[in-house]
Amino acid sequence: MSFYKVICLLYCITILTPLVSPTPFWNQELIESRASGNHNPKTNTFDLVLKKVNLAPDGFTRVVSTINGQYPGPTIEANKGDRIVMNIHNELEAPTAIHSHGMFQRGTPWYDGVPGQTQCEIPNNYTFTYNFTVPDQAGTYWYHSHALTQYVDGIVGALIIHDPDDPYKAEYDEEILVMLTDYHHTEAHILLKSFLTPESEVPDNGLINGKNNYDCSKAPPGSTCVDNAGLAKFEFVSNKRYRLRIINTSAFSSFFFSIDKHVMEVIEVEGSYTKRNKIHRLPINVAQRYSVIVTADQPVDNYIMRSEFQKMCMPDEAISLPVVTAIVHYDGAPEDSVPKDIPWTDFLEECIDLDPKTLQPLYEENIPEATREIKLNIAFHKDSLGIDKAFLNESTYVPDFTSSTLTKIFEGKAANLSTAENAFTFNTFGEVVDIYFINTDDGEHPFHMHGHQFWLLGIGNGTEVDKSALNTINPIKRDTSTIPINGWSALRFVVDNPGVWGHHCHMWHMQVGLVMQLIELPDEIIKMYPPETWSELCELKETLGY
Ligand SMILES: *[C@@H]1O[C@H](CO)[C@@H](O)[C@H](O)[C@H]1NC(C)=O
Ligand SMILES: *[C@@H]1O[C@H](CO)[C@@H](O)[C@H](O)[C@H]1NC(C)=O
Ligand SMILES: *[C@@H]1O[C@H](CO)[C@@H](O)[C@H](O)[C@H]1NC(C)=O
Ligand SMILES: *[C@@H]1O[C@H](CO)[C@@H](O)[C@H](O)[C@H]1NC(C)=O
Ligand SMILES: *[C@@H]1O[C@H](CO)[C@@H](O)[C@H](O)[C@H]1NC(C)=O
Ligand SMILES: *[C@@H]1O[C@H](CO)[C@@H](O)[C@H](O)[C@H]1NC(C)=O
Repeated sequence: MSFYKVICLLYCITILTPLVSPTPFWNQELIESRASGNHNPKTNTFDLVLKKVNLAPDGFTRVVSTINGQYPGPTIEANKGDRIVMNIHNELEAPTAIHSHGMFQRGTPWYDGVPGQTQCEIPNNYTFTYNFTVPDQAGTYWYHSHALTQYVDGIVGALIIHDPDDPYKAEYDEEILVMLTDYHHTEAHILLKSFLTPESEVPDNGLINGKNNYDCSKAPPGSTCVDNAGLAKFEFVSNKRYRLRIINTSAFSSFFFSIDKHVMEVIEVEGSYTKRNKIHRLPINVAQRYSVIVTADQPVDNYIMRSEFQKMCMPDEAISLPVVTAIVHYDGAPEDSVPKDIPWTDFLEECIDLDPKTLQPLYEENIPEATREIKLNIAFHKDSLGIDKAFLNESTYVPDFTSSTLTKIFEGKAANLSTAENAFTFNTFGEVVDIYFINTDDGEHPFHMHGHQFWLLGIGNGTEVDKSALNTINPIKRDTSTIPINGWSALRFVVDNPGVWGHHCHMWHMQVGLVMQLIELPDEIIKMYPPETWSELCELKETLGY
């Protein structure tokens, strides 16, 4: 596999961190207000302290970048229509910025949390408040640092928007959060260095809700390591129906997720409801999210929940990585018995998403015809200095961290962006844009679009988009999809959200340049009023010189 694919994979894997079960983490008040169906919008405030702490999620002690001392961080919950206020206290000893992944940020583009695009970073020892509403979206999301590789070191948590009008409300009894991630014992800035001197790097482990065991005999001499640190445990009660919200926060790794003997029915992908679709094994790529309904319909016992690395898209050394497991414990089953190993064996192709044809939107929409087409080739090769980089039509993204694109728009300086900013401007409200990516690399690339969901019109092999194969009748809408190895993907979105929206590979993207910026409706942006606290960040940057 290519060095780049490895980079992309690594980045993705690190992102996915599980929650520490089995303590209940759902906000009972929110769930009750959802059940009552008459919800008054409210403000949900979260005080989040980012700091480095020694932790041993899998028994191996390392410095983890945490949110409130936890890894993964606390779950942010709200109801559709609510306001979310996140007070970020940065004690990481490095600048940071927090992105709420999947939030449209309509009317508040300055809170999207991308250094160089939508804000200047939050300096160390400084507090910044993100403050936005979620009027028109509900589903399974996450939040994470968008600064360098901080999310791989632990700055990640789930973000759940409950839906008072959830069409599936009557079809499940409880919710369970499952966060999957690849996990490294080395801090990401060191991993990144080893990537940039092409040596393949494989994760040391994988976690489910922040837990797993590790064989300490593999740890380097002098490490602090405890065997059998413990698996995440999920409590089932016979015949109850559970909505599992599954989030892949990997840096780099894709997984197949399943529960032995239990059928899953997909009902949500990234904020879009789907028709119920039965599956046994769920492929989940970096940064993607799904909800599935699982019924506790098996004999009272313990069962294995498993997250299997898709090793075809990983370096050869990954072959020795074990299946990442957790325990599903039925009420009444013995506490400590070892579950039988009875995996589902359905064949699934590796390194591509769940077949989009199986994701039928619950609500059908008439999708508009495209009025503009942008075609971009993805390639990886050395730049003029001999450094390995990623290119979109031969342009590798170079962020300008001294300011941000949004700042430049407010200052009237955006007309002069360098070509290395990979910026595309859209001036017409309602313009319907098709983006075709042609990937000539032998690595897959999970691409995430900020500020939007897009219709996924199709994916395919080769270097020509097969227009006759595009689904323009009933495609799924999502915010992250994988461009296949040596293949293409086609997506469509509508220009309707003034702001600067990143569209990028969710891996070592900032480092290798596989990033574009969508500048939407700049004439509308300049009529908006960003808060002073936001403008001050760029002034601080200049005075403090970080
Ligand atoms: C952080 O701020 C506090 C109080 O404002 C100050 O006492 C401390 O020295 C600062 N620490 C750093 C690392 O700048
Ligand atoms: C959040 O934004 C709203 C609307 O601008 C404002 O009324 C409120 O005071 C803000 N809250 C905080 C904590 O900044
Ligand atoms: C998470 O994303 C990474 C990066 O694309 C991918 O390799 C991995 O398979 C994903 N994991 C899951 C569970 O989808
Ligand atoms: C990218 O390059 C391709 C092929 O060279 C070309 O057809 C396409 O128009 C280019 N895209 C843009 C946005 O310039
Ligand atoms: C545009 O950039 C060039 C080169 O960086 C600079 O000389 C010029 O002053 C800039 N113009 C504006 C309007 O900012
Ligand atoms: C692409 O090619 C692979 C390998 O030949 C094949 O398994 C897969 O089904 C093809 N995908 C599409 C969308 O045609």
